[in-house]
Amino acid sequence: MSETPDRYNHEMNSNPATHRPILALPDNLISQIAAGEVVERPSAVVKEVLENALDAGASNVVIRLEEGGVKRIAITDNGRGIPPDQLTLAVARHATSKIASLDELEHVATLGFRGEALASIASVSLLTLTTRTADAPHAWQIENGKVSPASGAQGTTVDVQDLYYNTPARRKFLKSEQTEFGHCAEIVRRIALARPDVSFSLSHNGKAVDHWNVSAIDKRSAQILGEAFSNARLSLDENAGPLRIHGFVGLPTASKARADAQFFYVNGRFVRDKLLTHAVRAAYQDVLHGDRYPSYVLGLDLDPALVDVNVHPSKIEVRFRDSRSVHQFVFHAVSRALAQTSATAFGTVPGPMSAGSGIAAPANGSMPWISGEQTTFASQFANPSPYAGGGSNGSGYGNAYQNPYRPQQNGGVTQSMESYGAFFSPGIGSGVNETGASYANQVANSLPDDDYPLGFALAQLHGVYVLAQNSKGLVLVDMHAAHERILYEQLKNALDENSMPVQPMLIPITFFADAVEVGTVEEHQDTLKALGFDMAAISPTTLAVRAVPALLKNADAQSLARDVLREVREFGGSRVLIDRRNELLGTLACHTAVRANRSLTVPEMNALLRQMEHTERSDQCNHGRPTWVQLGLNDLDKMFLRGQ
Ligand SMILES: Nc1ncnc2c1ncn2[C@@H]1O[C@H](COP(=O)(O)OP(=O)(O)O)[C@@H](O)[C@H]1O
Ligand SMILES: [Mg+2]
Repeated sequence: MSETPDRYNHEMNSNPATHRPILALPDNLISQIAAGEVVERPSAVVKEVLENALDAGASNVVIRLEEGGVKRIAITDNGRGIPPDQLTLAVARHATSKIASLDELEHVATLGFRGEALASIASVSLLTLTTRTADAPHAWQIENGKVSPASGAQGTTVDVQDLYYNTPARRKFLKSEQTEFGHCAEIVRRIALARPDVSFSLSHNGKAVDHWNVSAIDKRSAQILGEAFSNARLSLDENAGPLRIHGFVGLPTASKARADAQFFYVNGRFVRDKLLTHAVRAAYQDVLHGDRYPSYVLGLDLDPALVDVNVHPSKIEVRFRDSRSVHQFVFHAVSRALAQTSATAFGTVPGPMSAGSGIAAPANGSMPWISGEQTTFASQFANPSPYAGGGSNGSGYGNAYQNPYRPQQNGGVTQSMESYGAFFSPGIGSGVNETGASYANQVANSLPDDDYPLGFALAQLHGVYVLAQNSKGLVLVDMHAAHERILYEQLKNALDENSMPVQPMLIPITFFADAVEVGTVEEHQDTLKALGFDMAAISPTTLAVRAVPALLKNADAQSLARDVLREVREFGGSRVLIDRRNELLGTLACHTAVRANRSLTVPEMNALLRQMEHTERSDQCNHGRPTWVQLGLNDLDKMFLRGQ
């Protein structure tokens, strides 16, 4: 093995350090040792060479791999090239054109700066570098330390063959060809996502695998992350002092069972950073339950002096000067993006979705929350038809559209509001305490339709869905899921403000309880009070529920009480209110949310729609499923081949 020259071959139990003089290691050996960190597998070579191409200002990069990159990695760019007199230096250790002083290191804006990649690669492979600058009459090549004239266009080709041919120990750690190729392809995807302004082609064993033309980030990310993501994402672009965050966060419907669609860039460099991952994860906590992983493409830009990228040779970890503010900033920006409901983003209400420079946001009303299923549903009808395609403006509903179903003073809204009140007026939240008459007045005031993004209820379908009409077409609402989210948000707000409205029971509900339950009630009175419960033991085996949170007054008091007691007992009073708060409130909301098969009146349905519009995160239920979808008139027209 070349890493262990003969002079290390002593008897097993002799300590070489005590027997031999100190020697400076030869240069090539230093590079081979460094190669262990810098280019630990073929994908790391791909990364280093691609980063060099981008640092050289390339706008087109072609990547050709053979046998997972082990046999060959050839990367051609159209960047500025290397002058022939610098070719020897380019492959020498610690030689770089990117920084010249410590001060420059602290402000480094290029991807590379350590000057060790090419030297490391050259020390463990057969490297040929062919390059031509704009003013050179022809290209030059360096191979095995020898520089000679060559042919080629402006730019650089780095050709790496037989990786680790001289370090068999390293070679043994490589995985199968497909696995190594998979890692290489992932690196290409990561870099291509950060640079939509550069075109990339990737081939493996002579077969084209990927090709991305120069485009904008919304298109590039749709190509790389697929339709499921591009149909269900929110864009964000926010500034705060020296920090800017931009990109896309996937809705819970675009979440995955594995964390393989998470791309975070700091100043254009892909990083896998605990602090950032944690901030994003925390922001999703409230819309994504269980073991799902969010999808996102996010870029954080800041003054390079505020972040140290020289923490690890592969530069995948970074260190922020002020990590607390970075965490806060990322957490709040992502939370805000997710809290914004599509219902409020819809129509004319401006929001983060339409903010932003640099990154194109989905057009307003582009229905990003419609999941893949609906798309397939629509396209199933549109595709095979000769009438398909075009016709997007055929319906002509546009702004002139009038809502014939809009409740009028003499319409459905004058119905008794009692049942509506029973369900949807628990005492907090906007617009839910109004009497039927004022609701009717408000509607009759002829506000533009877009003030009611979710439109007006038409009917209930199979006791599960509410059908509503808005200016875009048909809205379908899963009433249980929607109501559950509304209650949950209301419970959270009430608990946060320490103002849980309480509903005393006319006649206390009593039930048989075991000793543990009775003990819990006695021990955790404060916690139960904070949650809005008044419970007492009226005998060693009987509990009475004298009051419940007003928001939950329609639930079965006994099973509600039992659930709360179980949580409190299991996690202790204080933890239930802090760490377990959201889980507990989620459980309670689920108990109370209107059940399937409960028939709702039109005013009740409208009240539900209005509450959804005013509730944060109301696009998903507490389990991350969508609460509503939009079927546009265009989608419907396509189904019926209308206006083609
Ligand atoms: N594709 C390329 N186009 C132009 N110059 C390059 C390219 N690849 C490498 N170089 C030059 O070779 C030098 C050494 O590259 P490298 O060993 O990767 O170190 P670093 O990128 O850290 O400077 C770079 O600083 C750059 O000047
Ligand atoms: Mg480099």
